[in-house]
Amino acid sequence: MVADLVLMGEWHPVAFSEEIQDAPIGRILLGERLVLFRNSASIHAWKDLCVHRGAALSLGKVVDDTLVCPYHGWRYDGSGACVRIPQQKPEQSITRQACAVTYESLEKHGLVWVRLRPSSSSEIPYYKEFEDDKFRTVFCGPYALNASAPRVIENFLDVGHLAFLHEGYLGDSAFPEIPDYNVTVTDDGIRSDEIDLFQPDPDSTGNSGIARYVYEVLKPTTARLMKTNPLTGDVFSILFSVMPVEERLSKVYVALSRNYAFDAPDDQFTSFQTFILEQDTLILESQRPELLPLDLQSELHLKPDRLSIAYRNWLKTSRVTWGTA
Ligand code: FES
Ligand code: FE
Repeated sequence: MVADLVLMGEWHPVAFSEEIQDAPIGRILLGERLVLFRNSASIHAWKDLCVHRGAALSLGKVVDDTLVCPYHGWRYDGSGACVRIPQQKPEQSITRQACAVTYESLEKHGLVWVRLRPSSSSEIPYYKEFEDDKFRTVFCGPYALNASAPRVIENFLDVGHLAFLHEGYLGDSAFPEIPDYNVTVTDDGIRSDEIDLFQPDPDSTGNSGIARYVYEVLKPTTARLMKTNPLTGDVFSILFSVMPVEERLSKVYVALSRNYAFDAPDDQFTSFQTFILEQDTLILESQRPELLPLDLQSELHLKPDRLSIAYRNWLKTSRVTWGTA
């Protein structure tokens, strides 16, 4: 598999901030094994490999702000430099080659984000609800799926399946037609027009009605959905960020934001999202080919698939190769 330089240059969620406490943890991002840990200075994301004999540093521990390899006890400071080799005298010098491979990492919005390759243009996906006091945001996930990240994003953008796969909740098979809509493609992503859909239970509150959908693709593996009730002005937004683990394995981090029903229990909304995603997972894990075909001749497309078509074309133009065929 050839490394995807585009996705390596993007920020990806790899953990919730609160998961990184005293002990290092392992993650896999774009096929790369990572160790995540925290010392008194900050959070760190390194290649999960000790240069001495290749042991996984995520099996080690954090002592005095250093990460200690579990195998022979080499200690690495926050910069990744090895500062102590117990098998030699303290005054003996340590070769500069004894260092960890480090990656950029930062904490924002309750998540830990990692970028495997420096890039001047990429930023963390901008989701305005994080900074808007009128919204209450809760997280759910990560949801692990045996599916490629682009397939998972395309499923999130797929408006035609709501009346069938999520019948009784996000649609009704008696009303399967999708109103005509357009999409706008920019260098920064994709945005759909407003799409009005009848939904029996759009947000787990049990109130049926029209939901006005606006989709945005913010990054190759991150999308946003804003659902508005045109009668009440209630807005329910979803940030849907897929962590590409392996080409056929993804983890989804989801933020749910609402500007209403602050008194309702949050787990009512997160449980509903889990339930809906379980329905999607069943289909996503069944889809073949597993890698999203960017050649539009390979599958059949309808007008309501316009957003998916735009997404596939945009991935192609952006030279994303991970999880695509
Ligand atoms: Fe890490 Fe030997 S493998 S100290
Ligand atoms: Fe779905």
